[in-house]
Amino acid sequence: MSKSFNVAVAGATGAVGVEMVKTLEKRNFPVKNLRLLASARSAGKTMKFRGEDVVIEEMTENSFKGIDIALFSAGGDISKKFRRSVVDAGAVMIDNSSAFRLEPDVPLVVPEVNPEDIAKHHGVIANPNCSTIIMLVAVAPLHRAKKLRRLVAATYQAASGAGAKGMDELLTQTRQLLDGQPIEPKAFAHRIGFNLIPHIDVFLDNAYTKEELKMLNETRKMLHDDSIRVTCTCVRVPVLRAHSEALNLEFADEVTPDEARAILAAAPGVKVVDDPANKLYPMPIDATEKYDVLVGRIRQDISRDDRRGLDIFVAGDQVLKGAALNAVQIAEHL
Ligand code: A2P
Repeated sequence: MSKSFNVAVAGATGAVGVEMVKTLEKRNFPVKNLRLLASARSAGKTMKFRGEDVVIEEMTENSFKGIDIALFSAGGDISKKFRRSVVDAGAVMIDNSSAFRLEPDVPLVVPEVNPEDIAKHHGVIANPNCSTIIMLVAVAPLHRAKKLRRLVAATYQAASGAGAKGMDELLTQTRQLLDGQPIEPKAFAHRIGFNLIPHIDVFLDNAYTKEELKMLNETRKMLHDDSIRVTCTCVRVPVLRAHSEALNLEFADEVTPDEARAILAAAPGVKVVDDPANKLYPMPIDATEKYDVLVGRIRQDISRDDRRGLDIFVAGDQVLKGAALNAVQIAEHL
């Protein structure tokens, strides 16, 4: 008989938590028992799993007894609060927050990029930042072939990055603005309807945001190369749930767009969408609810005198590959 596991989803009612439950079901993860955990506000409500109603419980220190794998997406403070209870219960925590990502003992993993790091865990494995995951699914295969030296990124990040409340705010504000009603920004620093906001997470002393430094630090950690240089501007855009990124890449070795296309066509988790003559390129609407990261607009960087530079454009579902799917894939490797 094949093995099955007791799984907890912590933050089950959130934008990512809901997708974690759906992804476990869709990918036939061998779940023996599923425990759904959220705040006291949701306790007693139910969610469907494999056609059955599962009652949501309030998350407490005792929620993890008998659990093998706990998928966490309830925010960094909740992950920190419950880490001990999860590890003491003998479960493995796969955490979607940024709380533990840079701790040396915590593997930070995208299964297409560094699956070998999973085995090094001590009870906690971190899911990277959503924009970093989507970027590295495309960049890691190019790095393996041509050795990445420097990366310049601009992101176009969906409202879902701020959770269910972010998506609600985009929909509500769009409706209110069309109806000429007053709006009140809550999930974002400014109006998100018919606007964009170059500010994700908090500002740091060097004038970058924390989100922008996640792209640097998490890339170095996952590619095991602290010499890679990354600069980045992260922007929130009025898109519901898929992130896009314009990436300028500099490699140690020469690379042509055709070579890059061939490398990417063979890479797991990537779909090359690069036929500009037929208006085919990655767009967030086409990446929505898809497992693959779309890569296109692949071209030689004409600002250089050599062939060591490429420009590419990527789009990936923030809630799936950027969060829930990546966490479930880590569980599958475990
Ligand atoms: P709840 O729906 O009961 O508030 P999102 O990122 O989409 O906003 O989702 C956040 C998730 O984290 C939700 O499932 C939410 O549950 C859960 N959550 C928030 N605060 C707590 C808490 N104090 N204890 C347990 N779960 C929490």
